[in-house]
Amino acid sequence: MSAGPIGVFDSGVGGLTVLRALRARMPAADYVYLGDTARLPYGTKSPDTVRRYALAAAEALRSRDVCALVVACNTASGVALEALAERWPDVPVVGVVEPGAAAVCRRSPGGSIAVIGTESTIRGGAYQEAIARLRPEARVRVRACSVFVALAEEGWFDTPAAEAVARAYLGDWLQGDDPPDSLVLGCTHFPVLADLIRRIAGDDLVLVDSASTTADVLAQVLAGSPAPASGRGSLKFLATDGADRFARVGSRFLGQSIDPADVELVDL
Ligand code: DGL
Repeated sequence: MSAGPIGVFDSGVGGLTVLRALRARMPAADYVYLGDTARLPYGTKSPDTVRRYALAAAEALRSRDVCALVVACNTASGVALEALAERWPDVPVVGVVEPGAAAVCRRSPGGSIAVIGTESTIRGGAYQEAIARLRPEARVRVRACSVFVALAEEGWFDTPAAEAVARAYLGDWLQGDDPPDSLVLGCTHFPVLADLIRRIAGDDLVLVDSASTTADVLAQVLAGSPAPASGRGSLKFLATDGADRFARVGSRFLGQSIDPADVELVDL
């Protein structure tokens, strides 16, 4: 296994919520993150198109000699994980859907689970299948919340507009007679909206995202390899469009400031 950086990609800045968890878990590793901002959103596109985009994004990271690939996008994880693993059998590939499903199955008190994600993630059924496998008695309800991606990319995490959209999408569940006991944020753009959703839902709802569970899975996969311990904790950012915007909005997702000068524009 190469001792190169850990490669992480998403359609935009959403996957930085996963990068943040990876760094908390493996701070000494080096990372290269690619946001395919020119093609965002992935979530409204067909599976074939998302697969093609994901292979191109992964190829760009492969050329940087990455030791592992984290698909920090539920949409791409849902449709492209197998294709990626087939194309590069020598590089471990970790997605975010299985870890997210595992986390909610562990944490849901009564098995009343809600999943929100992009159109593609919900239509593809990857969460529904994973939860049915891990906790067959769970009662699962799902909903596509595509506008959340645009709100998050805009940096509108806790604004009246974001609240109106969240109520329109989730009000009937969260304030109805039979609320779920747990909600999976099945899109890596959504964790930045967690405070807002919590405010609408109240304190009892268990909110789950896949970031820290994905970091645990990757740490296990890399156990024994030099990568997690032998790096310098460096961060490199690649984007396919809009370096300034990526840095400005991405800083809030990553929880630390990103200098636009550190964002390299690449063409896939
Ligand atoms: N962040 C991506 C996900 O987890 C999708 C956002 C998009 O639609 O591009 O699904």
